[in-house]
Amino acid sequence: MTKKCYVTTPIYYVTAAPHLGSLYSTLIADVIARWSKLQGKDTFFLTGTDEHGQKVAQTAEKAGKTPQAFVDSFIHAYKNAWKQYEIEYDYFVRTTDPNHIAAVQDWIRDLQKKGDIYKSFYQGWYCVSDELFVTEKDADVSKPIDEHAQGPACPHCGRPTQFVAEETYFFKLSKYQDALLEFYEQNPDFVTPKERLHEVINFVKAGLKDLSISRTTVTWGIPFPDDPKHVAYVWADALTNYITAIGYKQKGREKEFAKWWPADVQVLGKDILRFHAIYWPAFLMASDLAMPKTLLVHGWIKMDKQKMSKSLGNVVDPMELLKTYGADPVRYYLMRQMAITHDGDFSIDDLEQRISSDLANDLGNLLNRLVALAEQHNALEIAPPPAWDKDSQLLHEQCQKMLEEFAAHMDSYMFHMALGTVWKFINATNAYFHEHEPWKLAKQDRAAFMAVLSSSAHSLRTIAYLLLPYMPEKMEQLFASLGIEQKHQIAHADLDRWNQTFKLKKMPPLFEKPAEREKPMETKPEIKQDSYITIDDVVKVELVVGTIEQCEVVAQSEKLLKMQVNFGPKGSRQILAGIRASYKPEDLIGKQGIFVFNLKPRAMAGLESQGMMLVAEGGDGKVKMSTVAESVPNGTRLR
Ligand code: MSP
Repeated sequence: MTKKCYVTTPIYYVTAAPHLGSLYSTLIADVIARWSKLQGKDTFFLTGTDEHGQKVAQTAEKAGKTPQAFVDSFIHAYKNAWKQYEIEYDYFVRTTDPNHIAAVQDWIRDLQKKGDIYKSFYQGWYCVSDELFVTEKDADVSKPIDEHAQGPACPHCGRPTQFVAEETYFFKLSKYQDALLEFYEQNPDFVTPKERLHEVINFVKAGLKDLSISRTTVTWGIPFPDDPKHVAYVWADALTNYITAIGYKQKGREKEFAKWWPADVQVLGKDILRFHAIYWPAFLMASDLAMPKTLLVHGWIKMDKQKMSKSLGNVVDPMELLKTYGADPVRYYLMRQMAITHDGDFSIDDLEQRISSDLANDLGNLLNRLVALAEQHNALEIAPPPAWDKDSQLLHEQCQKMLEEFAAHMDSYMFHMALGTVWKFINATNAYFHEHEPWKLAKQDRAAFMAVLSSSAHSLRTIAYLLLPYMPEKMEQLFASLGIEQKHQIAHADLDRWNQTFKLKKMPPLFEKPAEREKPMETKPEIKQDSYITIDDVVKVELVVGTIEQCEVVAQSEKLLKMQVNFGPKGSRQILAGIRASYKPEDLIGKQGIFVFNLKPRAMAGLESQGMMLVAEGGDGKVKMSTVAESVPNGTRLR
């Protein structure tokens, strides 16, 4: 029997179009699903949207729409973004789907019968002016509340809070505390990476209180069965999507549900781990359902060290990136640059760097050189040689090793390492190709020449298979260039046997270097004529003169120069500038330049830049550094 794989993403809040963070969660699931299909597993990939709750209702009202019309208006943006990014999901669930709503109501009814959902009062100290409950974090509310006493001060406005008791339904979370702890102990792999399970265990050990799962103050939600003034509070409505979407509590869909549940991998960001690792298993235990096998928890994409989020206003629009770089390079960058276990910084510089060096240089050029040389020497059709020479055998062995390492990294969801393994082999193939100088062999030893072409083509074929889940469109092109029409599941692709005949085809380059493209991402906002600044704004920018004492190229960047600048009594600083196309390091050493001295240090190509060099755009496409007309002491501030 073929194995199955049910993979899910979190469902996304729909108060705006998807951003890079949502793309990241979805992309991870897509790579898992594609790899699983390639391995011949019966695969189901679920994603969708989380559409209820007060925030949606309020935002809809501001937009002058009904909540339903408001959420409907975003669905296209999600589905379109996923389509453009080649996200191959099987079903898109919406929490406003009638079958989801009915199934959640049935689920609630069941748990009510069992006594795991009960009606009581949610009580606490409430700030009337801020309309919020003072949470346990803000004040000590662990003691029994004396409702006549004055409440603690509101953490926002400082006014005294009042005792308020609101009728609510609770889920008996406390009942599952021991069962959860036992489950974690018996399933240490329930959460990947493992370390994240510790924080969950500690939280549960500290004691679980019953969970309020209904609200009477919110109207945009799933009404409680037989008590419609209560609506299900977001997490009870949202987490259940993972089962309702595959038929839970739906007549005629029992087989389907039995086929897919439990989920094999549930992808989520670290911010929603607690909900998935505590509430969700407790809900499932209460419903006598099996536990998901793995919760795969990823870190955050950050911008300038802060989480990228709508509320901080520092989000990157995936659709803009798509226009500039195309889907596959962005997919590659996110999966390669981010270690799933950690947070990672997003930077256009790093993205461009990855495209130029990993994709265009290492991989794209290997294919280009192979096809160009074969064409030049009338060798587009390449049969395997009767026997392999020693070096080709060695390359073949490296290829085998890569296959094993890659599969092991994929099994442990260490995508950046899986890609690192492939690139190590791409570089080994490049080295093999160069060392054998096939352009010379073409005239001297036709058999040896053909063997080099054949082993390089076999290497590329294997690489294309392994990269398919990451860059589906580009790898189709790579297959087409190698003349491979029929792709197989990995088990039947005979990747370990180098016995293929290739019919190479010349095609446009696989990847373009970003420098050769237009860059709409870098357009700067226009300064309006009437937007004058005051002298106060001018003095905010500290411009200081310094001498460039050392300067060198940054190996991992095509644009950057790294300078050590002497600011006299203000010290010496490392400053990076994207001026390599305009200056050689030796042109700058010893010169005085003008630098923004109080700019927040930022990372460029993995190095810290502690200021910014001022330059002027030259008419010749090169920049000119700024300087003072006559030498002044280092550290002098401009005014
Ligand atoms: N609706 C809930 C999830 C309910 S699942 C039953 C939710 N939605 S969300 O839209 O706010 O976030 C969804 C996912 O996007 C989470 O996995 C979250 O971690 C991820 N990301 C949002 N911003 C992110 C980054 N800046 N970086 C990486 N992923 C982050 O939470």
